Amino acid sequence: MTDRPALSLHTGSRGSRVLGIGSFQPEKVVTNDDLSKVMDTNDEWIRTRVGIIERRFAEKDEELTDFAVAAGKAALADAGVDPSEVDTVILPNCTMRTLIPNAAAQVAARIGIPNPGAFDLNAACAGFCYGLGVASDLIRAGSAKKVLVIGAEKLTDSIDPTDRANAIIFADGAGAAVVGASDEPEIGPVSWGSAGDLVDLIYMRDEKFIYQEGQSVFRWATTQIAPIALSALEAAGLKPSDVDVLIPHQANLRIVEAIAKKLRANGARDDMVVADDIKYSGNTSSASIPLALDHMRKAGTVRSGDVVLAVGFGAGLSYAGQAFVSP
Ligand SMILES: CC(C)(COP(=O)(O)OP(=O)(O)OC[C@H]1O[C@@H](n2cnc3c(N)ncnc32)[C@H](O)[C@@H]1OP(=O)(O)O)[C@@H](O)C(=O)NCCC(=O)NCCS
Repeated sequence: MTDRPALSLHTGSRGSRVLGIGSFQPEKVVTNDDLSKVMDTNDEWIRTRVGIIERRFAEKDEELTDFAVAAGKAALADAGVDPSEVDTVILPNCTMRTLIPNAAAQVAARIGIPNPGAFDLNAACAGFCYGLGVASDLIRAGSAKKVLVIGAEKLTDSIDPTDRANAIIFADGAGAAVVGASDEPEIGPVSWGSAGDLVDLIYMRDEKFIYQEGQSVFRWATTQIAPIALSALEAAGLKPSDVDVLIPHQANLRIVEAIAKKLRANGARDDMVVADDIKYSGNTSSASIPLALDHMRKAGTVRSGDVVLAVGFGAGLSYAGQAFVSP
Protein backbone atom coordinates (compact mmCIF):
# COMPACT_ATOMS: atom_id res chain seq x y z
CA MET A 1 0.00 0.00 0.00
CA THR A 2 1.17 3.50 -0.74
CA ASP A 3 -0.13 6.69 0.83
CA ARG A 4 0.09 8.69 -2.36
CA PRO A 5 -3.21 10.34 -3.33
CA ALA A 6 -5.29 8.55 -5.95
CA LEU A 7 -5.31 10.26 -9.34
CA SER A 8 -8.60 11.27 -10.82
CA LEU A 9 -9.52 10.65 -14.44
CA HIS A 10 -11.83 12.26 -16.96
CA THR A 11 -15.07 10.48 -17.65
CA GLY A 12 -15.65 9.75 -21.31
CA SER A 13 -18.56 8.49 -23.33
CA ARG A 14 -19.52 4.97 -24.35
CA GLY A 15 -19.08 5.80 -27.99
CA SER A 16 -18.01 8.41 -30.49
CA ARG A 17 -19.32 9.45 -33.87
CA VAL A 18 -18.49 11.51 -36.93
CA LEU A 19 -20.58 14.69 -36.75
CA GLY A 20 -19.62 16.29 -40.03
CA ILE A 21 -17.32 16.11 -43.04
CA GLY A 22 -15.77 18.81 -45.22
CA SER A 23 -13.13 19.13 -47.90
CA PHE A 24 -11.23 21.56 -50.07
CA GLN A 25 -9.29 21.32 -53.33
CA PRO A 26 -7.31 23.99 -55.12
CA GLU A 27 -8.86 25.43 -58.30
CA LYS A 28 -6.18 24.39 -60.76
CA VAL A 29 -7.18 21.28 -62.73
CA VAL A 30 -4.34 19.31 -64.31
CA THR A 31 -5.25 16.77 -66.97
CA ASN A 32 -3.22 13.80 -68.16
CA ASP A 33 -2.65 15.65 -71.43
CA ASP A 34 -1.16 18.55 -69.45
CA LEU A 35 1.30 16.12 -67.84
CA SER A 36 2.22 14.54 -71.17
CA LYS A 37 3.63 17.94 -72.20
CA VAL A 38 6.32 17.77 -69.48
CA MET A 39 7.10 14.04 -69.30
CA ASP A 40 6.94 10.88 -71.36
CA THR A 41 3.42 9.73 -70.52
CA ASN A 42 -0.05 9.75 -72.03
CA ASP A 43 -3.72 9.91 -71.09
CA GLU A 44 -4.46 6.30 -72.01
CA TRP A 45 -1.60 4.87 -69.90
CA ILE A 46 -2.53 6.90 -66.83
CA ARG A 47 -6.26 6.08 -67.09
CA THR A 48 -5.72 2.35 -67.52
CA ARG A 49 -2.77 1.84 -65.12
CA VAL A 50 -3.76 4.27 -62.36
CA GLY A 51 -7.35 5.35 -63.03
CA ILE A 52 -6.75 9.10 -62.81
CA ILE A 53 -8.47 11.38 -65.34
CA GLU A 54 -7.48 14.68 -63.76
CA ARG A 55 -6.23 16.06 -60.46
CA ARG A 56 -5.85 19.40 -58.65
CA PHE A 57 -2.48 21.10 -58.13
CA ALA A 58 -1.86 24.04 -55.82
CA GLU A 59 -0.50 27.33 -57.07
CA LYS A 60 2.87 28.34 -55.63
CA ASP A 61 1.34 30.71 -53.09
CA GLU A 62 -1.27 28.21 -51.83
CA GLU A 63 -0.21 26.28 -48.76
CA LEU A 64 -1.20 23.05 -47.05
CA THR A 65 -2.40 25.15 -44.11
CA ASP A 66 -4.76 27.12 -46.40
CA PHE A 67 -6.39 23.89 -47.56
CA ALA A 68 -6.64 22.63 -43.98
CA VAL A 69 -8.37 25.82 -42.81
CA ALA A 70 -10.94 25.61 -45.63
CA ALA A 71 -11.64 21.88 -45.10
CA GLY A 72 -11.82 22.30 -41.31
CA LYS A 73 -14.32 25.17 -41.59
CA ALA A 74 -16.43 23.17 -44.04
CA ALA A 75 -16.52 20.15 -41.70
CA LEU A 76 -17.55 22.33 -38.73
CA ALA A 77 -20.32 23.93 -40.81
CA ASP A 78 -21.51 20.50 -41.91
CA ALA A 79 -21.55 19.32 -38.29
CA GLY A 80 -23.23 22.49 -37.03
CA VAL A 81 -20.42 22.81 -34.48
CA ASP A 82 -19.08 26.22 -33.50
CA PRO A 83 -15.26 26.53 -33.49
CA SER A 84 -15.42 27.46 -29.79
CA GLU A 85 -16.70 23.94 -29.00
CA VAL A 86 -13.62 22.21 -30.40
CA ASP A 87 -10.94 21.32 -27.86
CA THR A 88 -8.56 19.22 -29.97
CA VAL A 89 -7.21 19.49 -33.50
CA ILE A 90 -5.34 16.61 -35.13
CA LEU A 91 -3.75 17.31 -38.50
CA PRO A 92 -2.57 14.18 -40.32
CA ASN A 93 -0.14 15.12 -43.10
CA CYS A 94 3.25 14.20 -44.48
CA THR A 95 4.05 17.21 -46.64
CA MET A 96 4.32 20.17 -44.22
CA ARG A 97 7.68 21.56 -45.33
CA THR A 98 8.52 23.15 -41.97
CA LEU A 99 8.67 20.76 -39.04
CA ILE A 100 8.54 23.71 -36.64
CA PRO A 101 5.94 25.04 -36.14
CA ASN A 102 3.42 22.29 -36.73
CA ALA A 103 0.40 22.92 -38.95
CA ALA A 104 -2.33 22.08 -36.43
CA ALA A 105 -1.94 24.99 -34.01
CA GLN A 106 -1.85 27.71 -36.67
CA VAL A 107 -4.73 26.13 -38.61
CA ALA A 108 -6.80 25.99 -35.40
CA ALA A 109 -6.09 29.67 -34.71
CA ARG A 110 -7.11 30.65 -38.24
CA ILE A 111 -10.36 28.70 -37.91
CA GLY A 112 -11.05 30.52 -34.63
CA ILE A 113 -10.71 27.53 -32.31
CA PRO A 114 -9.56 28.93 -28.97
CA ASN A 115 -6.41 27.27 -27.57
CA PRO A 116 -7.09 23.62 -28.44
CA GLY A 117 -4.70 20.73 -27.99
CA ALA A 118 -3.21 20.69 -31.49
CA PHE A 119 -0.77 18.31 -33.11
CA ASP A 120 0.27 16.98 -36.51
CA LEU A 121 0.26 13.24 -37.11
CA ASN A 122 2.44 11.59 -39.73
CA ALA A 123 1.34 8.16 -40.84
CA ALA A 124 1.55 9.19 -44.51
CA CYS A 125 -1.44 7.98 -46.52
CA ALA A 126 -2.78 6.09 -43.50
CA GLY A 127 -2.87 9.38 -41.55
CA PHE A 128 -6.59 10.07 -41.64
CA CYS A 129 -7.54 6.65 -40.24
CA TYR A 130 -4.86 7.00 -37.55
CA GLY A 131 -6.22 10.46 -36.69
CA LEU A 132 -9.82 9.29 -36.59
CA GLY A 133 -8.81 6.41 -34.31
CA VAL A 134 -6.98 8.73 -31.91
CA ALA A 135 -9.87 11.24 -31.94
CA SER A 136 -12.41 8.54 -31.18
CA ASP A 137 -10.37 7.18 -28.26
CA LEU A 138 -9.69 10.66 -26.83
CA ILE A 139 -13.44 11.24 -26.72
CA ARG A 140 -14.23 7.86 -25.24
CA ALA A 141 -11.58 8.42 -22.57
CA GLY A 142 -12.97 11.88 -21.77
CA SER A 143 -9.74 13.67 -22.77
CA ALA A 144 -11.58 15.59 -25.48
CA LYS A 145 -15.17 16.59 -26.19
CA LYS A 146 -14.99 17.62 -29.85
CA VAL A 147 -12.07 16.82 -32.11
CA LEU A 148 -11.40 18.20 -35.57
CA VAL A 149 -9.32 15.80 -37.70
CA ILE A 150 -7.98 17.39 -40.89
CA GLY A 151 -5.97 15.43 -43.44
CA ALA A 152 -4.23 18.01 -45.63
CA GLU A 153 -1.46 17.72 -48.20
CA LYS A 154 0.45 19.81 -50.69
CA LEU A 155 2.16 16.90 -52.37
CA THR A 156 3.25 18.99 -55.34
CA ASP A 157 5.91 20.54 -53.07
CA SER A 158 7.43 17.06 -52.66
CA ILE A 159 7.30 15.78 -56.22
CA ASP A 160 9.77 16.13 -59.03
CA PRO A 161 7.38 17.55 -61.66
CA THR A 162 9.10 15.51 -64.38
CA ASP A 163 9.13 12.19 -62.47
CA ARG A 164 6.52 10.12 -64.27
CA ALA A 165 6.27 7.54 -61.48
CA ASN A 166 5.04 10.14 -58.99
CA ALA A 167 3.92 13.31 -60.73
CA ILE A 168 1.08 11.46 -62.45
CA ILE A 169 -0.26 10.06 -59.16
CA PHE A 170 -0.01 12.62 -56.39
CA ALA A 171 -2.11 15.78 -55.96
CA ASP A 172 -3.16 18.42 -53.44
CA GLY A 173 -6.18 18.86 -51.20
CA ALA A 174 -7.68 18.45 -47.75
CA GLY A 175 -10.52 16.60 -46.06
CA ALA A 176 -11.78 16.89 -42.49
CA ALA A 177 -14.07 15.25 -39.96
CA VAL A 178 -15.57 16.53 -36.71
CA VAL A 179 -15.73 13.82 -34.05
CA GLY A 180 -17.86 13.97 -30.90
CA ALA A 181 -19.39 11.81 -28.17
CA SER A 182 -22.21 9.36 -28.70
CA ASP A 183 -24.15 6.98 -26.44
CA GLU A 184 -24.14 4.32 -29.15
CA PRO A 185 -20.70 3.70 -30.71
CA GLU A 186 -20.66 4.90 -34.32
CA ILE A 187 -16.91 4.66 -34.87
CA GLY A 188 -15.42 1.19 -34.55
CA PRO A 189 -11.98 0.40 -33.11
CA VAL A 190 -9.06 1.25 -35.36
CA SER A 191 -7.03 -1.67 -36.72
CA TRP A 192 -3.57 -0.32 -37.35
CA GLY A 193 -0.02 -1.44 -37.83
CA SER A 194 3.18 -0.93 -39.75
CA ALA A 195 5.81 -2.78 -41.77
CA GLY A 196 8.92 -0.74 -41.02
CA ASP A 197 11.13 -3.35 -42.68
CA LEU A 198 9.68 -2.10 -45.98
CA VAL A 199 10.61 1.52 -45.26
CA ASP A 200 12.67 1.80 -48.45
CA LEU A 201 9.64 1.32 -50.70
CA ILE A 202 8.46 4.94 -50.29
CA TYR A 203 10.64 7.75 -48.98
CA MET A 204 11.79 11.32 -49.59
CA ARG A 205 14.93 11.41 -51.69
CA ASP A 206 17.49 14.01 -50.49
CA GLU A 207 14.76 15.38 -48.21
CA LYS A 208 13.26 16.82 -51.35
CA PHE A 209 11.24 14.54 -53.60
CA ILE A 210 9.17 11.42 -52.96
CA TYR A 211 10.60 8.21 -54.36
CA GLN A 212 8.69 4.94 -54.51
CA GLU A 213 9.11 1.45 -55.87
CA GLY A 214 5.73 1.45 -57.56
CA GLN A 215 5.40 -2.23 -58.37
CA SER A 216 6.42 -3.41 -54.89
CA VAL A 217 4.02 -0.95 -53.25
CA PHE A 218 1.30 -2.12 -55.62
CA ARG A 219 1.88 -5.78 -54.72
CA TRP A 220 1.95 -5.02 -51.00
CA ALA A 221 -1.24 -2.95 -51.12
CA THR A 222 -3.19 -5.47 -53.20
CA THR A 223 -2.27 -8.38 -50.92
CA GLN A 224 -1.94 -6.91 -47.40
CA ILE A 225 -4.64 -4.27 -47.07
CA ALA A 226 -7.90 -6.22 -47.51
CA PRO A 227 -7.10 -8.33 -44.39
CA ILE A 228 -6.63 -5.09 -42.39
CA ALA A 229 -10.04 -3.89 -43.57
CA LEU A 230 -11.57 -7.23 -42.57
CA SER A 231 -9.94 -7.09 -39.14
CA ALA A 232 -11.33 -3.56 -38.61
CA LEU A 233 -14.80 -4.89 -39.39
CA GLU A 234 -14.40 -7.81 -37.02
CA ALA A 235 -13.18 -5.45 -34.27
CA ALA A 236 -16.39 -3.44 -34.73
CA GLY A 237 -18.53 -6.57 -34.57
CA LEU A 238 -19.60 -6.17 -38.19
CA LYS A 239 -19.69 -8.51 -41.17
CA PRO A 240 -18.52 -7.67 -44.71
CA SER A 241 -22.19 -7.73 -45.79
CA ASP A 242 -22.89 -4.85 -43.37
CA VAL A 243 -20.64 -2.48 -45.32
CA ASP A 244 -22.54 0.07 -47.43
CA VAL A 245 -19.51 2.08 -48.54
CA LEU A 246 -15.87 1.09 -48.97
CA ILE A 247 -13.32 3.89 -49.01
CA PRO A 248 -9.78 2.61 -49.46
CA HIS A 249 -7.05 5.24 -49.65
CA GLN A 250 -7.20 6.54 -53.23
CA ALA A 251 -3.71 5.42 -54.34
CA ASN A 252 -4.48 3.68 -57.60
CA LEU A 253 -7.91 2.61 -58.92
CA ARG A 254 -6.59 -0.89 -59.56
CA ILE A 255 -5.58 -1.18 -55.88
CA VAL A 256 -9.04 0.09 -54.85
CA GLU A 257 -10.72 -2.50 -57.09
CA ALA A 258 -8.46 -5.31 -55.82
CA ILE A 259 -9.40 -4.50 -52.20
CA ALA A 260 -13.12 -4.37 -53.11
CA LYS A 261 -12.84 -7.71 -54.91
CA LYS A 262 -11.28 -9.36 -51.85
CA LEU A 263 -13.98 -7.96 -49.58
CA ARG A 264 -16.69 -9.25 -51.92
CA ALA A 265 -15.00 -12.65 -51.95
CA ASN A 266 -15.42 -12.50 -48.15
CA GLY A 267 -19.12 -11.65 -48.24
CA ALA A 268 -19.34 -7.93 -49.02
CA ARG A 269 -22.39 -7.07 -51.13
CA ASP A 270 -22.30 -6.46 -54.87
CA ASP A 271 -24.13 -3.18 -54.28
CA MET A 272 -21.48 -1.96 -51.80
CA VAL A 273 -20.47 1.52 -53.03
CA VAL A 274 -16.73 1.72 -53.71
CA ALA A 275 -14.98 5.10 -53.69
CA ASP A 276 -13.35 6.04 -56.99
CA ASP A 277 -12.61 9.66 -56.17
CA ILE A 278 -9.04 9.17 -57.44
CA LYS A 279 -10.44 9.64 -60.96
CA TYR A 280 -10.84 13.39 -60.42
CA SER A 281 -8.74 14.03 -57.31
CA GLY A 282 -5.60 11.91 -57.73
CA ASN A 283 -3.79 10.55 -54.69
CA THR A 284 -3.97 13.18 -51.95
CA SER A 285 -2.40 10.98 -49.24
CA SER A 286 -3.91 11.69 -45.81
CA ALA A 287 -6.67 13.81 -47.39
CA SER A 288 -7.97 11.16 -49.79
CA ILE A 289 -10.46 9.32 -47.55
CA PRO A 290 -12.38 12.33 -46.13
CA LEU A 291 -12.16 14.03 -49.53
CA ALA A 292 -13.76 11.01 -51.17
CA LEU A 293 -16.43 10.75 -48.47
CA ASP A 294 -17.32 14.43 -48.78
CA HIS A 295 -17.64 14.18 -52.55
CA MET A 296 -19.73 11.00 -52.30
CA ARG A 297 -22.10 12.51 -49.74
CA LYS A 298 -22.57 15.57 -51.95
CA ALA A 299 -23.19 13.35 -54.98
CA GLY A 300 -25.76 11.36 -52.99
CA THR A 301 -23.92 8.02 -53.34
CA VAL A 302 -23.42 7.93 -49.56
CA ARG A 303 -26.36 8.62 -47.27
CA SER A 304 -26.53 9.54 -43.61
CA GLY A 305 -26.44 6.34 -41.54
CA ASP A 306 -24.51 4.30 -44.10
CA VAL A 307 -21.81 2.00 -42.70
CA VAL A 308 -18.48 3.16 -44.11
CA LEU A 309 -15.33 1.02 -44.07
CA ALA A 310 -12.19 3.14 -44.51
CA VAL A 311 -8.66 1.81 -44.88
CA GLY A 312 -5.49 3.86 -45.39
CA PHE A 313 -2.00 2.67 -46.30
CA GLY A 314 1.27 4.17 -47.44
CA ALA A 315 4.81 5.20 -46.52
CA GLY A 316 6.24 3.76 -43.35
CA LEU A 317 4.89 1.41 -44.40
CA SER A 318 1.86 2.26 -42.26
CA TYR A 319 -1.74 1.15 -42.43
CA ALA A 320 -5.00 1.64 -40.51
CA GLY A 321 -8.69 1.10 -40.98
CA GLN A 322 -12.00 1.38 -39.16
CA ALA A 323 -15.73 1.18 -39.71
CA PHE A 324 -17.89 4.19 -38.91
CA VAL A 325 -21.35 5.54 -39.59
CA SER A 326 -21.60 8.34 -42.14
CA PRO A 327 -23.09 11.57 -40.74
C1 LIG B 1 3.52 3.75 -60.03
C2 LIG B 1 2.69 2.83 -60.90
C3 LIG B 1 1.51 3.58 -61.46
C4 LIG B 1 3.56 2.35 -62.06
O1 LIG B 1 2.85 1.41 -62.81
P1 LIG B 1 3.56 0.07 -63.23
O2 LIG B 1 2.59 -0.68 -64.03
O3 LIG B 1 4.09 -0.58 -62.00
O4 LIG B 1 4.70 0.63 -64.14
P2 LIG B 1 6.17 0.08 -64.39
O5 LIG B 1 7.12 1.01 -63.71
O6 LIG B 1 6.27 -1.38 -64.11
O7 LIG B 1 6.26 0.27 -65.95
C5 LIG B 1 5.44 -0.49 -66.86
C6 LIG B 1 5.58 0.11 -68.24
O8 LIG B 1 4.92 1.37 -68.28
C7 LIG B 1 5.86 2.39 -68.61
N1 LIG B 1 5.55 3.54 -67.76
C8 LIG B 1 5.87 3.73 -66.45
N2 LIG B 1 5.37 4.89 -66.02
C9 LIG B 1 4.72 5.46 -67.07
C10 LIG B 1 4.00 6.64 -67.24
N3 LIG B 1 3.82 7.54 -66.25
N4 LIG B 1 3.47 6.89 -68.43
C11 LIG B 1 3.62 6.05 -69.47
N5 LIG B 1 4.30 4.89 -69.38
C12 LIG B 1 4.85 4.60 -68.18
C13 LIG B 1 7.22 1.81 -68.31
O9 LIG B 1 8.22 2.39 -69.11
C14 LIG B 1 7.01 0.37 -68.64
O10 LIG B 1 7.08 0.21 -70.05
P3 LIG B 1 7.69 -1.14 -70.71
O11 LIG B 1 6.80 -2.24 -70.24
O12 LIG B 1 7.60 -0.85 -72.16
O13 LIG B 1 9.07 -1.22 -70.15
C15 LIG B 1 2.17 1.59 -60.13
O14 LIG B 1 3.25 0.74 -59.82
C16 LIG B 1 1.47 1.96 -58.87
O15 LIG B 1 0.43 2.57 -58.89
N6 LIG B 1 2.01 1.51 -57.73
C17 LIG B 1 1.44 1.82 -56.45
C18 LIG B 1 1.87 3.18 -56.10
C19 LIG B 1 1.10 3.72 -54.97
O16 LIG B 1 -0.06 3.50 -54.85
N7 LIG B 1 1.79 4.48 -54.15
C20 LIG B 1 1.23 5.24 -53.15
C21 LIG B 1 0.96 4.44 -51.97
S1 LIG B 1 0.32 5.57 -50.87
